[in-house]
Amino acid sequence: MKVAVIGCGYVGTSTSIAFAMYDHTVVAIDNDMGKIKKLKQAVLPFYEAGMEETLQKLVKDGTLSFTTDMKEAITQCDVLFIAVGTPSSSDGSADLSHVEEVAQQIGKTMESYKVVVIKSTVPIGTCDKIKKIIKNELEKRRLALSFDLVSNPEFLREGKALYDALHPERIVIGCDTKKAQKIMQELYKDIKTNILFVSNKDAEMIKYASNAFLATKISFINELARICEKIGANIIQVAKGMGMDSRIGFQFLQAGIGYGGSCFPKDIKALLTLASENGNPLHILQAVASVNQTQTDWFMEKVQKAIGPLSGKRIAVLGLTFKPETDDIREAPSLKIIDYLIKEKAFITAYDPKGVEHVKKLYPAIHYTFTPLEALQKADAALLVTEWKEIVNIDWQNAKHIMSQPFVFDGRNALNSSEMLTFGYHYVGVGTPHA
Ligand code: UDX
Repeated sequence: MKVAVIGCGYVGTSTSIAFAMYDHTVVAIDNDMGKIKKLKQAVLPFYEAGMEETLQKLVKDGTLSFTTDMKEAITQCDVLFIAVGTPSSSDGSADLSHVEEVAQQIGKTMESYKVVVIKSTVPIGTCDKIKKIIKNELEKRRLALSFDLVSNPEFLREGKALYDALHPERIVIGCDTKKAQKIMQELYKDIKTNILFVSNKDAEMIKYASNAFLATKISFINELARICEKIGANIIQVAKGMGMDSRIGFQFLQAGIGYGGSCFPKDIKALLTLASENGNPLHILQAVASVNQTQTDWFMEKVQKAIGPLSGKRIAVLGLTFKPETDDIREAPSLKIIDYLIKEKAFITAYDPKGVEHVKKLYPAIHYTFTPLEALQKADAALLVTEWKEIVNIDWQNAKHIMSQPFVFDGRNALNSSEMLTFGYHYVGVGTPHA
């Protein structure tokens, strides 16, 4: 099939690659000339482990091509995926202007039946809105062409994007006609997984509800971690014991300094706004957001309590990205931690394998290092913020000798606490007795 994917961000690019790998001919479109120029040369505009090699192969084979010419792609392709950004507006709702612009362009250009698929995460009701925009444009052209609107949310994780796009645990397709359902079935025929066909609105809600639920698990365990510390219980063991119940499961019960990234914070804000606007505030989700908002301050207060005033102290921030295996720093807990340290007038040395260039733009005055050991040099304390293997696998036994004081605050419970204690560190985890 001939597929157009409009928007070459994270989701759009991963989707394009996955469909091209499943033998569809894919044209990916973006209005950012610089991005398209890079992609044409098989260079990714973001870091994602292993993806560039696959991109090179697909571009060489000609199964995946890139263009800024949306009109031509719309004319040539039967299925049009919309995967443009939906950033948060100032009121917390999702900004749909990019999705709407694409819809207008489709209505202005299409000459035959199209399946228009929304991949971007959009509020419930967006499919209806987009349908109206396309219809309106067609009416202006006095054309009675038919088209279908499908919601096909994406569940991939950064750092595992290609794997997730190729091996999804489920595919959710919200579509209201048999014709579109058949085309979507054909599109995904080579992916062996469960496909759930639901209405447009159900699919839109499934995406928000899934992210909200995962974030709820994280904030739940993080709040429990706080009480575990007070009563001397260990959140790691508690999570293990809970997870053994298959109704609960082990995943997303890793206590830490909170969730970040481009999805959870934005989608939760959007769902909260949508719920309030509909007169149905989501109390549990409000608490989820609030626990996450305060988790870094709670962590930094522990640091301050252990080592005293931070003013003039040399603090090593180990890890800047919102999670390992990505260069994404959006809503990363590291940014809140850096703000806290700056406010307290600490001297910051920061290390990250992939995220330094992005953080440097926001905080040019911080001392960035090329290795984790350089960051630890003469440090009064180390804060483990992102559990990169380069950080977890530091030679901690010897690293102690280059630090001024052996304080390690493990914001991800990623280190072996008993080993750290044996090495002579003052080791502090999240929700563990070593706090
Ligand atoms: C998430 C969803 O997992 C994915 O399905 C959706 O499509 C996009 O949003 P992503 O943002 O890439 O994916 O990251 P994810 O691996 O889910 O982690 C999100 C955040 O939660 C990270 O900051 C991570 O450190 C944190 N997290 C995750 C925890 O603090 N504890 C956990 O147990 C799991």
